[in-house]
Amino acid sequence: MSGGAIISYIMDALAVELNNILEGTAAWRLLSGFGKRIYFPRGIIAQSGEAKKAAAKANGTIGMAFSNGKPMLLPGFKRYMPDFEPEETVAYAPTAGNEKLRELWKKLLLQKNPSLNADCTSLPVVAPGITAGISYTAELFLDAGQTILSAEPAWDNYRLIFEERRGGIMRGIQFFDGEGRLNIPEIRGAILEEAKSGAVRIILNFPNNPSGYSPTNAEVAALVDCVNEAASGGADVLVICDDAYFGFFYENDACKESIFSRLAGLHERVLAVKTDGPTKEDYSWGFRLAMVTLGSKGLGREHFDALVTKLMGSIRSSVSCSNTFAQSLFLKLYGDESTNAQKRAFFNILKERYEAVKQFTEAHKNHPRLSPLPFNSGYFMCLRCKGLDAGKLRRRLLEKHGIGTVAFGSEYLRVAFSSIEKELLPEIFAAIYDTALESF
Ligand SMILES: Cc1ncc(COP(=O)(O)O)c(C=O)c1O
Repeated sequence: MSGGAIISYIMDALAVELNNILEGTAAWRLLSGFGKRIYFPRGIIAQSGEAKKAAAKANGTIGMAFSNGKPMLLPGFKRYMPDFEPEETVAYAPTAGNEKLRELWKKLLLQKNPSLNADCTSLPVVAPGITAGISYTAELFLDAGQTILSAEPAWDNYRLIFEERRGGIMRGIQFFDGEGRLNIPEIRGAILEEAKSGAVRIILNFPNNPSGYSPTNAEVAALVDCVNEAASGGADVLVICDDAYFGFFYENDACKESIFSRLAGLHERVLAVKTDGPTKEDYSWGFRLAMVTLGSKGLGREHFDALVTKLMGSIRSSVSCSNTFAQSLFLKLYGDESTNAQKRAFFNILKERYEAVKQFTEAHKNHPRLSPLPFNSGYFMCLRCKGLDAGKLRRRLLEKHGIGTVAFGSEYLRVAFSSIEKELLPEIFAAIYDTALESF
């Protein structure tokens, strides 16, 4: 015999069990190689869960330290977290997250998205940040060499996740037409072209990073029609809805629900995955807490459970579980009556900043070198550069004016108005628009 070792791989019986449950569904057909192989072992976590309920005398299962039936807590920690029990802070969280938080997030999802059908939706799974949620989703549903569609320009981390981590191919779609609206014919063409391969994978991000755009109700309906057309034609469609900036809608005509709510109950061949969480919505960027929720008309409870179990396998084999303290803090936050008013006050600050930027861009519509992509929501706005390099403009702004912006390739300059005081915005934008006229 010549050459290297022959590796034979036998799929774990637990993975086979999950695959058998899912067989015949779009979710099963869309699973990647990893997605097919992954399972959640009946090992330490499962056995410890059983013991938690039944081991009345002594629970010697989990790698934590207990004293008097409680996780041991250094007094130094207690001093800074006086309102929390050790179970809420230093103890490991369940792999899929705190059950109460998962239930609460689902309740909130249904409140925020009245047309969402609870029966077509899984219980959310907690992930350590939306990035991780997207990454786990890609692990389960995107293989090397497979294409995923996305808006162009897009959040730069998508390329790292889909291409560098997963080996997939990101195909950008020019999402906007010259009129400042979604370019539905372009998006439809890309989806139907991809549908010819038998499967479509697409990520939608509204409010969008970097443009700051959210579709109108009519545009959402048109997007949903595109997906429906592909599915009705026989393709399986995965739509990842990255709703990181959900809720930051500043104009009346933007659709106030996530497109996930329209996709979850749309068609047996459509699997929608919603990644969202408190990161931006609740101004808690560093807490690393997010949710992944699955939705499909074609799936029943046993299917959702099987997919959640695979997701748990993905989490268990990477970060093992998310931060307990952050989850406990959120339960307290949402249990507090004043939270909504606090959030409304912060929202109003961002809305005022949005309005200040809008006022400026409306008054400078005829700038020869800069034109904003449509924006009506979120944290950002994005300027398309004509006849100048966005990277050079960025550098010039930084070095000459001390203004920080982000260049997306050579064509787009993104400004996070969410981070700049309202009073400063006219001056900052005047500097950007004036600098773009200079030759450098
Ligand atoms: C579109 C988009 N998705 C996801 C994220 C990441 O969220 P998280 O910090 O929860 O990982 C960001 C953050 O900038 C984002 O802009």
